[in-house]
Parts: sequence; structure tokens; C-alpha cells
Amino acid sequence: MVQLREGIHWVGAVDWSVRSFHGYITHRGSSYNSYLVVDEKVALIDFVKAPFAEEQVTKISEIIDPKRVDYIVANHAEPDHSGSIRMVLEACSNAELVATERCMNTLWKYYGGDIKATPIEKKPSLKLGKRSLSFVPVPMAHWPDSMVSYMPEEKLLFSNDAFGQHLASSGRFDDEVDAAELMQEASTYYANILMPLWRSVSRALKALEGVPLEMIAPSHGIIWRKDPGKILKAYQGWVAGETKKKAVVVYDTMWGSTQLLARAIADGVASKGVEVKVHNLGASPNSDVIADILDAKAILVGSPTLNNHIFPTIGGFLAYMRGLKPMNKIGAAFGSYGWAGGAKKIVEAEMQAAGIQMVESDIDFVFHPNGDEVKRAHAFGQGIAEKILGA
Ligand SMILES: Cc1cc2nc3c(=O)[nH]c(=O)nc-3n(C[C@H](O)[C@H](O)[C@H](O)COP(=O)(O)O)c2cc1C
Ligand SMILES: [Fe+2]
Ligand SMILES: [Fe+2]
Repeated sequence: MVQLREGIHWVGAVDWSVRSFHGYITHRGSSYNSYLVVDEKVALIDFVKAPFAEEQVTKISEIIDPKRVDYIVANHAEPDHSGSIRMVLEACSNAELVATERCMNTLWKYYGGDIKATPIEKKPSLKLGKRSLSFVPVPMAHWPDSMVSYMPEEKLLFSNDAFGQHLASSGRFDDEVDAAELMQEASTYYANILMPLWRSVSRALKALEGVPLEMIAPSHGIIWRKDPGKILKAYQGWVAGETKKKAVVVYDTMWGSTQLLARAIADGVASKGVEVKVHNLGASPNSDVIADILDAKAILVGSPTLNNHIFPTIGGFLAYMRGLKPMNKIGAAFGSYGWAGGAKKIVEAEMQAAGIQMVESDIDFVFHPNGDEVKRAHAFGQGIAEKILGA
């Protein structure tokens, strides 16, 4: 049994096999963390996703008779943290459920209006014995109902979605997993889940300033105990929209023409010593592309014209990116067409609508680009690199 501190147990579930989290491709699985605090009073923090309900109840039972659970804290109503609610409430039949009013309203919509709960607006903290829990609403980090729970005696924050990562692992702590893998999954998670909510995340970070933190226990992935400052610092950079000297080229192609241009542009960028990542949407999921875009300065999107429109994967990607609102980026569109064309203009309009500062581009050629056109694409990439270096 894993303990964060004496009497504070992890009773969550590791989901090794999940590969799509509402469309976000989770190459390394995930976990749904839940915590059981055994003090004079016993408190359970968060449920887990529905398929793991039995596992959660079993874990609780191995520590204590579930009937002895006094409180259950629901930090967030999303089904990955509430799916086990019915089974857990049945097992922990003496527990009082505590949540924000917004969370209760949402839980009723998902699971039925007969669930009883006490709003934290009436009970902003719980005394458990030696330890206590204080509830801090963090609306829109992730949903309107979201809150975090803080245990001042242990300087321990149960942060729910914030600071999480979709990372299945046998180790439960940051010092037990590969550091590069961990930060990659933390940034991918931020980019795909929290990036458009940066104002709310920023407010939550402000609220945490001056709060002593020795451990951050999110509801996905590992617990930050060795260096909680590391993830706080990373979040500070992300909410501020910090970028590196890096470009991302995103494209799809039917007969290879747009691909040829994408590769030439990328080579041009790299020839100036600027890092570049290339994603063919026929191969890369949108969530991987967005993860790469998080800290990039430039986004270059290429589409062939298909039936007077953009290629469908490009359409899907642009919709996804527009919703996630990447900050502080420059961008350009390019493409290939056969006769009337049109894709480049549509891509440009969508990128503009996503808040990207557009750079004029004339990289839009008929059918397979010839040698001169490929050279122009290369030079265009160099020009983008110079803009990045000058930014
Ligand atoms: C199914 C299909 C529909 C197309 N529709 C158009 C079109 O409406 N307008 C146009 O200018 N070109 C159209 N084209 C031509 C392509 O845009 C052209 O072949 C382009 O070079 C393809 O780039 P790619 O090799 O990157 O796929 C179409 C091609 C295909 C295969
Ligand atoms: Fe969530
Ligand atoms: Fe979540």
C-alpha cells in the first residue's frame, strides 16, 4: 500500500490501457488518483473512473472498513473522478459527501438527484484530527465546479486535474519515474486540457503563492514530492505563454505535393539553427501536435485543396487548435492545388481566428512543386526562422 504520509493512502487506479481520453491520445495510459486520509476522522478524496469502482472499494477495504469513512470529498464532477460514485457511496454508507455547489449540480445530472451532499460553501474545511482539509474553489481549472483541497499540517495539496499527467506507472511519485517522460506528459496534459483556461490556472497559481507546499497530489499520474516547485515553475511559464525558438510544421497530403513543401519549409527553418517539428496529420494525432505547439513560436500549416476546401484532417486540427487558443504565436499557411485552389485562404482565416499572428505567405503551388518552387519553400522556412530568432 502506498502512503504519501503516515495514514494518507493512495487508493486510486492505474489505467494502463486507455489510449484516447475524450480524443486526447494517451500513449502512456493514465491513472485516476484517489486518497484516503485515516485520522480520528476518515476522509476519502475523489472517486475514480467507473470501470475501476470495484478496485477503489477493494483498496479502501484493505485499509479500513469503508463504513468508517466519515467524509468523501469530490473535487471535480467530471466522470474520470466521479464514475465510481454509486459503488463507493454504497460501500461508504456513513460518509458525508462534500463538494462545491456547482459540483453537486453536475453530479446530480450525471448520477441522479438523490445523491446527498454538503456544499463546501457551508463547510469550507474539515477537521480530521491531527490533520485538516481546506477547500479552495478553482473554477475553470478544469470545469466550473473544480476545487482543490489543501492539508496545511502536511503542506499537501490535492490538486485534482491541475499538475496532472496522463501517465500510467508503477511508481506513484516523481522520484520513481523517468523525469523526461514525466515532464513530457505534464506539458502534453497542460497543452490539451488546460491551455485555453490559462486565466483560471493563473488565478489558481496566484492563490497558491505563499502557501507552503511540500507535496502536490493530482488526480492523474504521479505525485510531486521530490520537487513540487518544478511543476509550479513549468506552469508559471505555460500560463505566461513562454515560447522557445521553435517551429511546428503541420500538414496532410494526398499525392505528396504539400508534403514536399512541408519538408522544404522545415529544412529551411532548421538551416538557420531553429528547432522544428514536423507533423503529418495522417500519422500524428492532434493532441501530439498541440503538445509540440505549446512552447513553439511559429506554426506553419499546409493543406492540399480538396473539392474547393481544406483537407479534412486539417479542418479537424484547426478546430482543435482554435478551441485550445495557443498563446503568443506567429503562423503561416501553405499548400498545393490543381486548378481553382482555396485551401490556403481557408487555413489562414482559421489560424487568424485562433489568435495566431499571421505572416504573409506565397507558398501555394499548382500540383507537384517544381525545383524552383521547392527552393522558394525552403527560403520561406528560412524567413520564418529569422522572424523567430528576431522575436
Ligand atoms: C479528390 C480530389 C479533389 C480535388 N479537388 C480540388 C479542388 O477542388 N480544387 C483544386 O484546385 N484542386 C483540387 N484537387 C487537386 C489537388 O489539390 C492537387 O492535386 C494538389 O497538388 C494535391 O496536393 P497533395 O499532393 O499535397 O495532395 C483535387 C484533388 C483530388 C485528388
Ligand atoms: Fe477534468
Ligand atoms: Fe481529470
